Amino acid sequence: MNGFKIVRSLKSRACSVSGLSSTVIRASSSWWSHVEMGPPDAILGITEAYKKDPNPKKINLGAGAYRDDQGKPYVLPVVKKAESMIVSGNLDKEYATIAGLPPFAKASAQLAFGKDMNGLNATVQTISGTGALRIGGAFLARFLQGEKVIYMPSPTWGNHIPIFRDSGFEIKTYRYYDAETCGFDFNGCLEDLNNLPEKSVVLLHVCAHNPTGVDPKMEQWKEICEVVKKRQLFPFFDMAYQGFASGDIDRDAASMRYFIDQGLSVFVTQSYAKNMGLYGERIGALNVVCQSVEEAKAVESQLKILIRPMYSNPPIHGARIVTDVLNNQELRAQWLVELKGMADRIISMREQFRGTLEKLGSKRDWSHITDQIGMFCFTGLKPDQVERLTNEFSIYLTKDGRMSVAGVCSTNVEYLAEAVHEVTK
Ligand SMILES: Cc1ncc(COP(=O)(O)O)c(C=O)c1O
Repeated sequence: MNGFKIVRSLKSRACSVSGLSSTVIRASSSWWSHVEMGPPDAILGITEAYKKDPNPKKINLGAGAYRDDQGKPYVLPVVKKAESMIVSGNLDKEYATIAGLPPFAKASAQLAFGKDMNGLNATVQTISGTGALRIGGAFLARFLQGEKVIYMPSPTWGNHIPIFRDSGFEIKTYRYYDAETCGFDFNGCLEDLNNLPEKSVVLLHVCAHNPTGVDPKMEQWKEICEVVKKRQLFPFFDMAYQGFASGDIDRDAASMRYFIDQGLSVFVTQSYAKNMGLYGERIGALNVVCQSVEEAKAVESQLKILIRPMYSNPPIHGARIVTDVLNNQELRAQWLVELKGMADRIISMREQFRGTLEKLGSKRDWSHITDQIGMFCFTGLKPDQVERLTNEFSIYLTKDGRMSVAGVCSTNVEYLAEAVHEVTK
């Protein structure tokens, strides 16, 4: 029997469903005994510990998912409306094309670039932002001429590293975050980019940098763009938070659009996880901006060749929701209001958190809480202070001091500030 033997279990109490006895199949020799147990995911580990904690005042600031002011997951009313329209449309469940739903790709690119790119973009629907990064990585690995090295900001979103490593890239970093100021290390960043080998690939967060919440100002982006041009670097933009940072879809995309206006070829990934709250629907896009329509067509054909053997074609439900929200003027207007509502709630929590710390008499400078933007705040708390927050106050966050501000609400912000004040005295 192909190296397997049938063994009758001694404990024969288990399954006898539909005639099956408690017979189990056990390998006579093991195939996977050399496989070592991998470490658990850092963020999921925090959520597990949070769930087990009986303290009614506990707060989970680990996971990067938006919560309403009652601390509950939030389905945008506009998404519910689009879904009910889709259901009543009685649509079929046929496959999308390899590149996804064409109206989705068109509307998504239009949202990213704020205009029609007249065929200069190859846009494919992807399995959310992660899938877009992974397909982008696979394309670069196949077609980039030169060394397979990608330069990322230090620090960057934890998943960037394995995504590009698994795509066949060596990972290197450039300076980004200044721990002294809890702000942007502009000089360090420029100096490092200036010293990169020509034609290097550089990963840039369009807005709401994860994990630091620190974004360059527009004037700084312009200087970064100059260096990118001068050193002939290739900009790979990750845009996971368009509209979610400031509440304004154009303002949040301005950095990347500036590079395009300067005539540069870029990659841009999009995610609808945060800005439409479609986390589990896994809907996003990869855009490759090219120098000619022919180039864009060739790139799109090769993206499809990469996608086909990976998952054949992407899921349709999230794509339908996004397309309807973006293309129906009434739904789009409602979405923009709800999106701003999410961004504003986070901004107001930052203000209340900082304000309460100051009211409590904290001697520290907490201006970075309100200077930083987006879902995350890099608090500057040290690992031992984070540990005290967890052990003494049941407040859960990552060891690097990153807080998901989305988990802060008007009923827990004072408790949070008191606890942070206590551990930073
Ligand atoms: C910087 C960044 N890029 C990409 C993603 C991708 O998220 P998703 O795959 O859920 O769209 C995230 C999510 O947290 C992120 O923070």
